[in-house]
Formats: sequence, structure tokens, C-alpha cells
Amino acid sequence: MSYKRYLITAALPYANGPVHIGHLAGCYLPADIYTRYQRAQKRDVKFVCGSDEHGVPITIRAMKEGITPQDVVDKYNAIIKDSFAQMGIAFDIYSRTSSQTHKQTSQAFFTKLFNDGVFEERESEQYYDESKEMFLADRYIIGTCPVCGNENAYGDQCERCGSALSPEQLLNPHSALSSAVPVKRKTKHWYFPLDKYEEWLKEWIVAGKKDEWKPNVYGQCKSWLDSGLQPRAMTRDSEWGVPVPLPDAKGKVLYVWFDAPIGYISATKELTNQWSDYWCSKDTKLVHFIGKDNIVFHCIIFPAMLKAHGGFVLPENVPANEFLNIEGEKVSTSRNWAVWVDEYVKDFPDQQDTLRYVLCANAPETKDNDFTWKDFQDRTNNELVSIFGNFVNRAFVLMHKLCNGRMPPLHKNIMTDADRALIEDLQKAKTKVENCIEGYKFRDGLFEVVDLARKGNKYLQDCAPWSLAKTPELQQEHQQKIDNCLHLCLQLTANLSILVNPFLPFTAVKMCHMMKVVDRMLDWENAGKPDLLKVNYPLRAPELLFRKIEDTEVAAQVEKLQDNLKKSGVATKMDSNTTPATIAAAAPVEAKQDAPVAKAEISIDDFTKMDLRVGTIVKAEKVEKADKLLKLELDMGNEMRTVVSGIALHFKPEEIIGKQVTVVANLAPRKMRGIESRGMILMAQNPDGRLIFVSPLEMAAAGSEVR
Ligand code: 2FM
Ligand code: ZN
Repeated sequence: MSYKRYLITAALPYANGPVHIGHLAGCYLPADIYTRYQRAQKRDVKFVCGSDEHGVPITIRAMKEGITPQDVVDKYNAIIKDSFAQMGIAFDIYSRTSSQTHKQTSQAFFTKLFNDGVFEERESEQYYDESKEMFLADRYIIGTCPVCGNENAYGDQCERCGSALSPEQLLNPHSALSSAVPVKRKTKHWYFPLDKYEEWLKEWIVAGKKDEWKPNVYGQCKSWLDSGLQPRAMTRDSEWGVPVPLPDAKGKVLYVWFDAPIGYISATKELTNQWSDYWCSKDTKLVHFIGKDNIVFHCIIFPAMLKAHGGFVLPENVPANEFLNIEGEKVSTSRNWAVWVDEYVKDFPDQQDTLRYVLCANAPETKDNDFTWKDFQDRTNNELVSIFGNFVNRAFVLMHKLCNGRMPPLHKNIMTDADRALIEDLQKAKTKVENCIEGYKFRDGLFEVVDLARKGNKYLQDCAPWSLAKTPELQQEHQQKIDNCLHLCLQLTANLSILVNPFLPFTAVKMCHMMKVVDRMLDWENAGKPDLLKVNYPLRAPELLFRKIEDTEVAAQVEKLQDNLKKSGVATKMDSNTTPATIAAAAPVEAKQDAPVAKAEISIDDFTKMDLRVGTIVKAEKVEKADKLLKLELDMGNEMRTVVSGIALHFKPEEIIGKQVTVVANLAPRKMRGIESRGMILMAQNPDGRLIFVSPLEMAAAGSEVR
């Protein structure tokens, strides 16, 4: 189907901190590449984004920094907006969900659903802090994790073992705001009946051939739909957010995941009076670029909201990337384990395209990927500098030296097979890159471009015009061959600038400057043409497109990561086996975790209440949609047991088959991610955060009692 317009959105980042390179790689860079390509195709495109300024992430940050939520969003909105601009992420608008337009738009959306009788009103009991006189969001409740005993687990998740929790599951719950023991109070909220949209969603996603979506996206949708949808509260008790536009809703705001995606609509409204052409017309191609943690909101909840409202276009695709780890470890803001974009642009001025290149070449398109500073250096020096930069530079230098600084002619009568093959390569490259970008395979697209430069290098090397010009006499004799070679290399350079433009826009502009052509040459329709540069036209001297990254710069960045980690005061989970060489070379990290606090004395009766047994792991697999959980099948001697354990970040499933573990066998069963877990396995935790199985030293019969 051909579309009249393209509406491209990139997830609205929470304005609760700067953006890191994982954000860029996950969502903003692919969205920008896609948009720049569509613009080069001269399609009618709008690329919208903005800060997500509501919700608990903002209020938590305000609490941590001791400032107001408004201060938080003002501060980080400015930093984030600037980081994107510096990195060439060229939104048509970068808005904010605190804007008046957004307030009106999201309230009107809610009111329409309310008036249409879509919402279900429900009363429920929620935790309330009497001293602060407020209901507590799950994140504001702290207590002991029932799975691993972490005393600082949150009401929605234990950050130590990764278990997804509800506040009711915490032992000794208390308020993060006052330490008071929260009490249960009744509160009313408006629920969106997702269950009623289940059939429609199945029709739209499963029958509607959304299996063309990326497998990670389609897979998550399918598993949500298969496990059945439940009504979801679309309002919250809070002072921070868009007020619920109803008379009996004092102290209630819209749920942040209700208002944030509507932010795409508000931003488009702020951008253009023709906003409804983009949002309310069937011939718009709406594409949401997001990170994998946002899939359910963009593929299930927001489409159901749009459907319930009516009149809006639905996303044609929702390309979501996985996560980018740093030096083998998950990004962690609390441990300051991240490469912040605002810091990168200060440390590497004018090297935006270098980072864009490395992040795209190493993008987590199908699985989590790793960013290391060593790889950053290697890719820059061995690919960008040695292949792309080197080819363009050599073509220009030789043209100045052997062709008087002017575009040489092409002497058709002496063209060789190699010349014709090069022309064919540049013609084919256009379709190849185009197909990759249209199919959201940006890495492959970029590699096609580099591959073309590689072919140019080989062609130039084989022609070796310098060897045909060793003496003035020789040069005169071979001038036509030299002309042909450099003519084609320069036409290839012009093509490279067009093809690389969506990926490395700063470089494309520099190349246009060198070729003395206007930016219009970068229009996609010009790609694949072997006659872009006019014969005899004087060209400029080459500019340095990329520079090498030195060892000292890599070392400084690795050290910075380590310093940040130490300053954060949070223990590292780094393991010398998994740490890359660059990290291993740096000073070992001091473990700052406090010694475990001694627990109150118990009687032997208390102890004997526990039924501890040896189990053998016979099967282990990751739990879908839960990065940290493994589902284990344990041989307990006379029975098999399923236990869900929060150890997925520490062990690969295949590594632990056959291990013997100690199991608390009489722990009450509990459901985790829809799986009934019967028992808990014991782990020792090193001060550096590493987990170690508590196993018998010798093989014990499965099911043996531990006393
Ligand atoms: O995960 C996040 O960072 C969210 N702020 C994304 C919101 S995307 C959209 F719905 F606004
Ligand atoms: Zn835990």
C-alpha cells in the first residue's frame, strides 16, 4: 500500500535524567535514520517527540534531588532536547507533556471515553501514608522481598533478584516518604476494559498479519494476548500529572501511560494546524519507534485506546529495539553505569557521526547488544576511518594531484569491465540500502554503504592511478585511464554521500561541501546515478571526515565509567570472568555493599519448620517478558517441581543444567508471571553482588533433606 503521509514517533523519554547512548541506539537513532531517509525520498513526513514529564519516575527523581517535580522536568527537558539536537536527531518538534495543548488534548481524550461509557469505575484498597496524607504509588512502598529477602525491595519490583512484585507481597511494607507503615484505604479509579478489546486486538495483530512486525515485538504481543487481557486503571492518586477532568476526581491524575502516548498527538497539534491530516486519515503511515520495555503500551494499550476513541489511524509498525549494555553490564542509572549523551558530545566534540556509526553498526536490533569503548575505537578506526574516510580522501587527493583539482571526464571508449562493474555496484547499492531501511534493518543498510566504499577502495587500489603517473611522460600516456578511474571514484563518492546521509548526516553535509554541491543532491532519487558530478567542475580540497580514536581516549572513558560507579556508592555486579579486557585492566572496584544485617534470633522450632531439600536442575529457561527470571524444573527425588528464580542476569539457562541446589520446599506456592513457583532456591550473595548456588559439596541424591 502506498501512503500519502508518514507520521513517525519516537518514545517520549522521561524527563527524569539525561539520555544515554542506550536510548539513542534503542529508539532515537533508528527513528532518525528512517525519517531522514523518508525526507530524502521527498515524502510528506512528520517526526514527533517530546519529554514525558508526568508519572512516578519524575516524582521519585524530585524526591532524590530534593527539588520539585517541575524543577526536575525543566532541568532534564532542556538537557535531553539539547543532546538530541547535538546528535542530529532531527525531530520536527520536541514537545513536552506539561504543555497546555497536551493537557487539553489528553483531557479531551479521557472525556470522550468517559462520555462514551468506555471506562469502568472501580473501588479498590490501596496503601496510604497517613502522615503524608497521600496514596502511595507502588514504587513508594518499600519492604522485604519475599523471594530473596532484600529489605529494600520496591512495591513493584525487587531490584536485587528482579522479581516482579505487588505491594501486598512485600513483608514489613513502609512508606518511602515517611517510613510510616502504610494503611489500606479505599480509592476510586477509572479502568480501561482492555479485556473487551482483546478480540479486536487479536484480529488486528494476529489475523492482521502483524507478524511482519519484528519478531520480538510480535512475540510479546502474542504472549500478552494469549495470556488474556485485564482492565487497567487509567487514573492515579497523585498531585503530579494531568488532572482527571471529572468533578469527583480531586487529587486524581491521568495514568502516565494514558497521557504519554497522547503526547504524540499533542506534539503534532503544536507542530501543524493540519495535524488531523496525519492522525485521522487512512493514508498515513504511522510508525512508533520505541525500546522493548514499551512494547505492550504501544502495541496493545494505546491502539485499544485509539480504537475506543475512534477516528485515529493505528500504527502500521512498531519497531522496537532491545537493550544496549555497556561493557558487558546492563545500564544502571542508580550505579551510574551509562554513557551519557551530553557528556559524550563534550568529550568528543564534532564526533557525532562516529557515535551514530558505532551505535547503528552495533544496534540491538534483534537481541541485547554490548557497547564497549574498545569496539567504539575499533569500528571507528578500522571501518569509518580506514574504509569510508580513506576512500573519499584518496579520491579527492588523487584528483587534485592528477586531474588539476577538477572533475575528470569519462572516456567511454576505453572503459574496462572493472569500471562497468563499479557502476553496477553503485546502482545496485541504492535498492539494497532502500530495502534495508524500509524493512527497519538499519545495521544491514549501513553495512551496505560501507561495503560500497570498500568496493571503491578495491577498485582504486586495482587501478592504482598513482603508478600510472610515476613520471610526467607516463602520466600523459595514461591520462585517460587515470581520468576514468578518478571520475568513477568521485561519482561513487557522490553516491556514498546520498546513501550515508540518513545514517551519518554530518558527514554527508561535509562531503557536499567538498564536492561543491548543494544539499539537494542528497535527494534519494539521485542515488544510483553514475553522472552526478559535472565534468571539469572544480572540487574543493578534502576535509577530514573522521579521525582516529586514540588508546588514551578509550582508557579515559573506561576510567570514567569506573569512577562514576565508585562515586555512585552502589556495589558493582562485575564479574572478572565476564568483564572485557579494557575493564579488567582498570583498577578493581571497591565493594561498597554493607555487611548483611544480623536477623533476630529464632528457635530451633522456627528452623525446623523449614523443609530444606536438595534438588537437581533438569531444565532451565528464561521467563518471557521478565529479564531477570528463570523458570527451573527441579528433580526432587520423588517429584518434579517448577521454581521461578530471579537469577537470569547471573546465569545462562544452559550453564546450570545438572547443578544441585538447596530448595526451601515447603514455601507457599506463588504465581510469578503466570507461572506457579513451588519453592525457592537458596543463593549466597558475594559483597560484589555475585550470586553463588548453595549446593552440596558432593553429589547428593535428589530430594535429600538438608538439616
Ligand atoms: O519508557 C519511557 O521512557 C516512557 N517515558 C516512554 C513513553 S512513550 C510514549 F508513550 F509517550
Ligand atoms: Zn528479591
